Amino acid sequence: MTLWGGRFSKAVDSFVEDFGASIHFDHVLAHWDIVGSVAHSKALAKAGVLSGKEQQKISAALWKLAEKIESGKIKFSLSDEDIHMNIERLLHGSIGDLAGKLHTGRSRNDQVALDLHLYLRAQVLHLLEKCHALQSALIAKGLEHIDTLLPGYTHLQRAQPVSLAHHLLAYAAMLQRDMQRLQEGWHRINVMPLGAGALAGAGFGLDRDYVAQLLAFDSLYENSMDAVSDRDFIIEFLSSASMIMMHLSRLSEELILWSSQEFAFIELDEGYSTGSSMMPQKKNPDVAELVRGKTGRVYGALMSMLTILKGLPLTYNKDLQEDKEGVFDVMKTVQDCLTVYAPMISTMKINKNNMARAASGGFSNATQVADYLVAKALPFRQAHEVAGKLVLHCIQNNTVLEELPLSVMQQYSDLIDNDIYQQLALTYVVDARNVRGGTARPQIRKQLDLIKKQSEAMQVSIVEKQK
Ligand code: ARG
Repeated sequence: MTLWGGRFSKAVDSFVEDFGASIHFDHVLAHWDIVGSVAHSKALAKAGVLSGKEQQKISAALWKLAEKIESGKIKFSLSDEDIHMNIERLLHGSIGDLAGKLHTGRSRNDQVALDLHLYLRAQVLHLLEKCHALQSALIAKGLEHIDTLLPGYTHLQRAQPVSLAHHLLAYAAMLQRDMQRLQEGWHRINVMPLGAGALAGAGFGLDRDYVAQLLAFDSLYENSMDAVSDRDFIIEFLSSASMIMMHLSRLSEELILWSSQEFAFIELDEGYSTGSSMMPQKKNPDVAELVRGKTGRVYGALMSMLTILKGLPLTYNKDLQEDKEGVFDVMKTVQDCLTVYAPMISTMKINKNNMARAASGGFSNATQVADYLVAKALPFRQAHEVAGKLVLHCIQNNTVLEELPLSVMQQYSDLIDNDIYQQLALTYVVDARNVRGGTARPQIRKQLDLIKKQSEAMQVSIVEKQK
C-alpha cells in the first residue's frame, strides 16, 4: 500500500503508477532530501515532537542511508513514486515505526521545494566556477593577442580593423554579466520554504528560523502559499542559463566560421575536432556545433517552465512535478558546454597572417580616410563622400587605398597630402579609436586590467558563497 493508504480501498492503476512517478529523475535530489530531513528532525526535537534520542536515531539512520545511496547500493522503487517517499520507506526499513514520526508538520510540497532550493544553491555555484574558467581562458588568450589584428564586421562585411583581444574580451564581458545574473538569482534561491507544510504552514510550533539557520539559508519565505508554489527562482535560473547558451552559441558560430577554409583565421585543436567517416580531408568543429545545437534544449526548458506556471492556481499542483527534468538537464548541459569550451579556447591556434590579410582587404581603413579629412576641417558628410569615391576608384581599378598615388587621391580632394599614408596602416587605424572601450591598444590594456580585476572579485565572491 502507498503511504496514503488510509483513504483508499483500491491500488492505483499500474500505468498511472508509472505515469505519475518522478523517481526516474528526482533521485538526483536524494542527498538534499536527506539534508533537509535531518534539519527537520532537529526542529521536531526542538518542538518536543521527537525526544532527543529519537532525533539522534533518525538522523544517524538518514546519514547511513545517504552513504548507501551514494555508493549506488540502493534500488528505488517505482511504487514509492518519488524520492521523498522512497527515502521514508527506506528509513522505515531501517528504524521501523519511528520513521513515521519524521513527516510530522511537513508535506512533500514544502519538502520538494526545499530540495530544489538546496540543489540549485549548490549547483549554481559549480556553474559559476565553470563560467569563470571560460572567462579566464578568454582573458588569457586576449593577453597573447593584443597586437593581432583582424577585421571587425558589421552585417558580416568587413568594417573596421580590431585587435583580436578586443574581440575575445567582448565575450569575457558577456560572461561577466552572465555570472552577475547567476549571482543575483542565487540570492533568491537561497530562501527557505520548509515549514510551509502543504500550503498553510506547519503546526507543532516548528521554529522555522532555527531550521533556516541549520541549513544556512539567508532568509525564509514569509508566506507559506508562496513558499510551496513559487518556481520563479527556477525560471530565473533557466533564463540565466539560456543567456549563457546564447552567448556560447554566438561564439560557436564565429569559431565555426573562422575555422572554415574560407576564413582560416583559427585552427581548433585536434582534441576538440572530429573527422568524417567518408571524407578523409575533413576536420570538423563538432564541439562548437554541438554547443550551438544544445542551446535549443536549454531554451526549451525555459519555455516549458514558463508555460507550466502560466495559469497555475495556488498552491501546489501536480503540474509542478514537471519542473525538475528541465532543470537537471539544463544544469548538466550548460556545465558540460562550459567544461569543454575553456580548453578549446586555450588550445586553439590563431592564424595571425590570415587575419591580417583579411583586415587589409575590404577597405577597413576607409573610415580613417574620412576621419583624416575631418581633421583637415572638412565636414564629416563631405569627407564620407570623398572616401566613398576613393573606394569606388579602387574597386574599379582593382587596387587598395594605401596603394593609390597621391596625385590620384588629390583629384578627389586637395586636402589630401602625403601624411595620409601612415594613417592608412592598420595599426594606425586601430590605435586611432582611442576612447575608453575602443580598440586602441592602450585602451585594450586598460580593458584587460579591468576585466581581470572584475573576474578576480567574482572568484572571491563565488568562494565566499561556498562557505
Ligand atoms: N514528486 C512531487 C513533485 O515532484 C513531490 C510533491 C508531491 N506532492 C503532492 N501533494 N503530490 O512535485
